[in-house]
Amino acid sequence: MNINENFLKIESSYLFSNIAKKVKAYTKANPDKEIIRLGIGDVTRPLAPACIEAMHKAVDEMADEKTFRGYPPEYGYDFLLNAINENDYKARGIELDNSEIFVSDGAKSDTGNIGDIFSLDNKVAICDPVYPVYVDTNVMSGRSGEKNAEGKWSNIYYMPCTAENNFLPLIPTQHVDIIYLCFPNNPTGMPIKKEELKKWVDYANREGAVILYDAAYEAFITEDDVPHSIYEIEGAKTCAIEFKSFSKTAGFTGVRCGYTVVPHDLKFGGTELNGMWARRQATKFNGVSYITQRAAEAVYSDEGKKQIQEILAYYRKNAKIIYNGLRDCGFTVYGAVDSPYVWLKTPDNMKSWDFFDLLLEKLQVVGTPGEGFGPAGEGYFRLTAFGTTENTEKAVARIKNYFAK
Ligand code: MLT
Repeated sequence: MNINENFLKIESSYLFSNIAKKVKAYTKANPDKEIIRLGIGDVTRPLAPACIEAMHKAVDEMADEKTFRGYPPEYGYDFLLNAINENDYKARGIELDNSEIFVSDGAKSDTGNIGDIFSLDNKVAICDPVYPVYVDTNVMSGRSGEKNAEGKWSNIYYMPCTAENNFLPLIPTQHVDIIYLCFPNNPTGMPIKKEELKKWVDYANREGAVILYDAAYEAFITEDDVPHSIYEIEGAKTCAIEFKSFSKTAGFTGVRCGYTVVPHDLKFGGTELNGMWARRQATKFNGVSYITQRAAEAVYSDEGKKQIQEILAYYRKNAKIIYNGLRDCGFTVYGAVDSPYVWLKTPDNMKSWDFFDLLLEKLQVVGTPGEGFGPAGEGYFRLTAFGTTENTEKAVARIKNYFAK
């Protein structure tokens, strides 16, 4: 028996697991200290009442033999597919067939699993810094090559996103096959405008490449010319797969629901990727629970929409508190406008893990070191707006107090 040796190439622990371990060790050694967690992008507001009500009702249906349900349809119940299609697409002028939408347990799984349908010899392009799932899953499957001294994988095409290019990747100067884009971006919190995204769609169509577009943070968009879906861009249906999530939109990080769109027009060598993803999901995934899908449907009800906007407004306010607070005490800050993330330059070019240790040990504030998202994240740091307002204010006050000295 031989193991998949690709697993030996990556760090044994996932970024957010590493951080959790460090925080746990610190808490054990300092049980009296009050830690404020603004590291992983996990929500703190309870679910919208409309979702809770829908879940209670669904639980009651499961308790009655007349309304009990077994396995869900592989790709989602029609009631949820219809709600997604109407609200997230038709309302934005995008025509999709329900068979192009695949309900799942979230964008993390789907962006990680999508590699199953692509050949191992494809050239992958990723932004740097980037959500670690895109890189780690390509390493696991054997598509990355070897890691060099700079921490870069030999077969991955890196697109640095730094202050110098306003955190927007440059169009590759060579052919690439698979392009991961995430906008509004995790971790930088920066959006992409429609005209910029159009350049990517044109590149992908010209090169015969596929764009894997992660729009998990789309609900945070406030600016007009920032697209909520890549299919707002002409030509995207022939080159892009889109991933969306209820985690950040509706606080489903613990409930688990998202969806992926694979248009029928997306074909390579005459084969529709839609059919391949359908086959993959039907084989390796058994669908999302009825109770969860009813909760997701309620996100689109009139009440649900209103309640979710209130929750989003709460997090947006936190993002402003962090952004303004840090800016006022001299930090260079980015993001926060169309995103729950604030991306900051570490003071005096401090290494991002050193800054992590300083915030944890001196101020008991947890954030995420930029380097954890890739080599170009070195010297940067991410804070999330998903804490409570009380804790966010406290964390900002602690940082201001320390760095004003
Ligand atoms: C993050 O903190 O980057 C996100 O919470 C990760 C995720 O959504 O899986």
